[in-house]
Amino acid sequence: NLQMGEEIDRCGLRREICRAKGAAPGSKVAILGAAGGIGQPLALLMKMNPLVSVLHLYDVVNTPGVTADISHMDTGAVVRGFLGQAQLEDALTGMDLVIIPAGVPRKPGMTRDDLFNINAGIVKTLCEAIAKCCPNAIVNLISNPVNSTVPIAAEVFKKAGTFDPKRLLGVTMLDVVRANTFVAEVLGLDPRDVDVPVVGGHAGVTILPLLSQVKPACSFTDKEIDYLTDRIQNGGTEVVEAKAGAGSATLSMAYAAVKFADACLRGLRGDAGIVECAFVASQVTELPFFASKVRLGRGGVEEIYPLGPLNEYERVGLDKAKKELATSIQKGVSFIRK
Ligand code: NAD
Ligand code: LMR
Repeated sequence: NLQMGEEIDRCGLRREICRAKGAAPGSKVAILGAAGGIGQPLALLMKMNPLVSVLHLYDVVNTPGVTADISHMDTGAVVRGFLGQAQLEDALTGMDLVIIPAGVPRKPGMTRDDLFNINAGIVKTLCEAIAKCCPNAIVNLISNPVNSTVPIAAEVFKKAGTFDPKRLLGVTMLDVVRANTFVAEVLGLDPRDVDVPVVGGHAGVTILPLLSQVKPACSFTDKEIDYLTDRIQNGGTEVVEAKAGAGSATLSMAYAAVKFADACLRGLRGDAGIVECAFVASQVTELPFFASKVRLGRGGVEEIYPLGPLNEYERVGLDKAKKELATSIQKGVSFIRK
């Protein structure tokens, strides 16, 4: 019913005008791929986030339904839906933060790199529109293979003349969330009290948990280190196999994406001491991109921390990670430069 739709839109507009007058400051956030397995719970959780004033939900299918549903939640953010390529630019205009979970997920037997052929083109198209409509937005890139899609996004932004390495972040938060959970299980602690740095990238051996730097300080047996490293590196595959063809992690990913987006929003607001792991343009190693701890602030990534002291096990893991990462990064770069 168009009339009712218009009325809903007017209410949303009224609330936006109130906010513009200073009633409730907050950030404008767009989710691209908002109707998907990650997108829907991510939209739900972002609608609950008090730092969000406007939430734009974009997908190539089903956004009217998802938007109508989410918009009934009695939280502050104004929600708007955008459907299909023709509405992409409207979805992006004025956004402070763009979260991208658009693209196909794995099925059992696939690697994340097997998604490259489809997802590379999707990420390219979306980033071209970001460069045009909200070149200063912070971008949280979730679509796999992250080790290649982040370099693709960077190349698109470079081509458009808008690349700011501080504002492009590959989301590796799920690796940290898993690492905290699995380490807490082994130590018999509450996972909320555990902090495990996970560096490198987001696929197999490129996911490198630094178990020698776990907080609170602790020690593991060799057997525990092998078990934990393997479980953290293959956490995604564990979910893919359990879902048996129905996709990959969506709920834990939405949780991780919101945890990360919330950190970015607190950084944008000017909060001090916001530190998370992310896959970013980096000089921590000789590779052009690398995941490590970063400090988030008003400009995005304000500081990238060095890896700190590694033990022999981690040094061997780092060499393996860098070898695979170099290939994945180059594949992403070549996709745009070819
Ligand atoms: P899904 O298939 O359930 O949802 C993807 C959504 O993207 C769909 O709604 C689809 O319509 C939409 N989409 C496709 N092409 C689009 C386009 N051009 N523009 C906008 N939207 C488009 O998949 P999912 O389970 O939500 O996973 C999405 C992606 O996230 C996958 O690539 C997956 O591998 C990745 N992922 C990454 C992490 C991580 O830690 N970084 C974790 C889990 C999943
Ligand atoms: C994950 O780590 O769960 C995601 O990257 C999805 C996948 O394909 O494993």
